[in-house]
Amino acid sequence: VKRITTHTLQKMKSNGEKISMITAYDFSFARIFDAAGIDVILVGDSASNVMAGHETTLPITLDQMIYHAQSVLRGIHRCLVVVDLPFGTYQSNSDIALASAIRIMKETGAHAIKLEGGEEAVESIKRIVHAGIPVMGHLGLTPQSIYKFGTYTVRAKEEEEANKLKKDALLLQEAGCFATVLEKIPAILAKEVSESLHIPTIGIGAGNACDGQVLVMHDMLGINTEFKPRFLRQYLNLHEQITGAVQQYIGDVKSGDFPNEHESY
Ligand code: KIV
Ligand code: NA
Repeated sequence: VKRITTHTLQKMKSNGEKISMITAYDFSFARIFDAAGIDVILVGDSASNVMAGHETTLPITLDQMIYHAQSVLRGIHRCLVVVDLPFGTYQSNSDIALASAIRIMKETGAHAIKLEGGEEAVESIKRIVHAGIPVMGHLGLTPQSIYKFGTYTVRAKEEEEANKLKKDALLLQEAGCFATVLEKIPAILAKEVSESLHIPTIGIGAGNACDGQVLVMHDMLGINTEFKPRFLRQYLNLHEQITGAVQQYIGDVKSGDFPNEHESY
């Protein structure tokens, strides 16, 4: 099989072919998504929410991200795997940022890392890229800054924040990022940014003009049912289906129907 690389994504943008990205946190789902033909798997720090049950992405540690990433890497043959640097492992200075990125690459076999922020992250991005590690940016509603924002509402609706985002996107490109996520910003702004950059943009709640799209697996598969933002398209209702299956199993155990003769030795 032909592996997807950062260069493949660049070519896809040039050819106008959209990039598909989904999160995964373990071996079994990564294997399914890779075999289904996904271009990019993101081992997102959304693991903090959907795997560990925290309210925000802030508590997850580098060791925990490495565990998830190692599991994902064992399941894939073809797709590009990007791993989030979690909160607190890159913001303080570029030495720490580089050391965190190196740990992820060395201990997991990942192909790239992602981190949040614009101008304030540029020095770290440059050093990580200089070390040979591909970096994906992340602008807009960056969840590690949720306590600064105070709300999960759409970002960059006003001109000042929109202008800063446009500037930040160019800075990320200049710093050597191979792509950037744009999260929860107006579609018109995402379109302008996507057209102004030669590197691909991957949108989530950022409209149809981005060069690719990403969704959190638990949201698009309907494992989460409480989280229903406008941008989410839910492709399955696994919550309902799993509940039904487990209830049938409980009933079969209680009634003595399971296991039957064919299911016994
Ligand atoms: O952690 C995550 O799942 C993400 C995507 C939503 C972009 O960063
Ligand atoms: Na993330």
